[in-house]
Amino acid sequence: MVTNKQVPPLTQNKHTQHYKPLTVSSSNHVLDTLLGGGFTKGNTVLLAGPPGTGKTLFAFQWLFDGIEKKSENSIYLSLTEPLFKNLSNLEMMRFYKRDAIEKQQLTLLDLRREKKEIDPNHLLNALEHHVLQTGSKRVVIDSITAISQQLENTFAIRNFIFRLGDLLATLGCTTLLTSEAATKNLQTPFGVEEFIADTVIALEKVRIGQEYQRCLTVVKNRGRNHKTQRAFYYITNKGLCLYPYSPPTLKHAESRIKVSSGIPGLDRLLSGGFFKGTSTFLAGTTGTGKTLFALHFLIAGLKNNEACLYVSFEESKDALRKNAENFGCNFPQHEQEKRLHLRCEPPESTFIEGHYQTILSLIRRKRIQRCIIDSLSAVANAFPEEHFLSFAKRLYLSLKQHGVTTLFTSAADTKEHMKEFTG
Ligand SMILES: Nc1ncnc2c1ncn2[C@@H]1O[C@H](COP(=O)(O)OP(=O)(O)O)[C@@H](O)[C@H]1O
Ligand SMILES: [Mg+2]
Repeated sequence: MVTNKQVPPLTQNKHTQHYKPLTVSSSNHVLDTLLGGGFTKGNTVLLAGPPGTGKTLFAFQWLFDGIEKKSENSIYLSLTEPLFKNLSNLEMMRFYKRDAIEKQQLTLLDLRREKKEIDPNHLLNALEHHVLQTGSKRVVIDSITAISQQLENTFAIRNFIFRLGDLLATLGCTTLLTSEAATKNLQTPFGVEEFIADTVIALEKVRIGQEYQRCLTVVKNRGRNHKTQRAFYYITNKGLCLYPYSPPTLKHAESRIKVSSGIPGLDRLLSGGFFKGTSTFLAGTTGTGKTLFALHFLIAGLKNNEACLYVSFEESKDALRKNAENFGCNFPQHEQEKRLHLRCEPPESTFIEGHYQTILSLIRRKRIQRCIIDSLSAVANAFPEEHFLSFAKRLYLSLKQHGVTTLFTSAADTKEHMKEFTG
C-alpha cells in the first residue's frame, strides 16, 4: 500500500527552463479555458451539483475522451446508480464506445452490490488493486457523497478523501469525484470535500422565467489561473456542451465611414448618416414607427450591398417579408442572394445565453455588416435584470467589435432595467 504523496509529475518548458504541471483535458475546450488550461495530472477534481445536472454524464464523457484521445485506461466506480442503468443511459451518447468496455479500457466497478457498510481501507485497497491491474490513469467515483454518508464524522470524511487523493496521485491517476451538492453557496453536503479537492466545479440549475437552466462555475483549480464566471451549458447526445467563452473587449477600431440611416432627412442632420460600426437606440411607444424606421435602415444596407441581419423577437419571418413588400423591398430575393438573414424567435424560445450565442455566430459566419435587434425591450421583459444587462452589454460590445452598424429598437413602456442599459 502506498501512502506518501509523490511529487507531482512535471514537464520542462524548453524556453524558460521552468517546470509546469502536466495538463489533463477536461474533454471540453470551453471548460478547459475556464479551468485555466484543464485539470492537473494527479489532482482530485470535485464535480458538485444537484441531481440531473449531468455529473454522471460528464464523468463518462471525460473517461471516454481519455480512452479515445490519450489511450488512457480508466475506472468508473458506481456507488449510487446500478451500472446497467448508467450504461443504458449512455447508449444514445456519441462519445459512448461499448468496445472500450469489452476491451477493458474502461473498468466498471459497482459497489452498490455490496450490501454491507463501506470499509474505507477495503475500498482503497480494492482501488489500488484495480488501478495497478488495469494501468488506469483516470478514476471516477460516483458519488463521494454516498461514501461520506457512511463515515461517522467530518474528520473521517476528510481523512478518507485525503488518503484517496494521495493514493491515486501516487499511482499517477487523475481522479474525479462527484458530489450531490446542496444548491446554496456552492457548498457540498458535508462541507469538507471542496476543501480537500484540488479542483472544484459547481454545477447548478438556475431558474430563468419558467425554465431551469444549467450552469457551472469553476470554484477553484489549484495552481492555475482559472476564470470565475458562471458558464451556461446544455446537454445533448454529445454530452455537456458549454457556450463558448467570449469576454467582451474594448479593442474595436472606430470607423470614420458614414453609412445611410435609410431616412434622407436624418442623413442630412447626421451629415451623411451613422458612423459605420456604431449602434443606435430607437425608443418609442407602440405605433411611433420603430419597425418602419428599422425597415428603412435595413433597405439602405441592402442597397449598399451590405450583409444584413434582422433579429426579431416579436414578428415572424413572413410578417417581416410582408412588411418589406409594402415598401417595394423583395426580402425573399435578398435572402436567396445571401445578402439578408432573418432570425425570428420569441425571447422565451431559449434562454438568454442561447440568443446571444446564435446572434454572434450568425454575425461571424455571415460576415454581417448591418443588424437590427427588434426589440430589446421584448428581451428585457422576458428575463431577469442581471441576465438581461449582461446580454445587452455583451451584444452591444460584440457588434461594435465586429464593425456591425446596429439599430436596437425598444418599446418605451418597458421594465426599469431597460433604462439601466440605455443609461
Ligand atoms: N441525449 C440527451 N439529451 C438531452 N439531455 C439529456 C440527454 N441524456 C441525458 N440528458 C439529461 O441529463 C440529465 C442526467 O444527467 P446525469 O449525469 O445523470 O445527472 P446527475 O448525475 O448530475 O444526476 C437528465 O436530467 C437528462 O435531462
Ligand atoms: Mg449521477
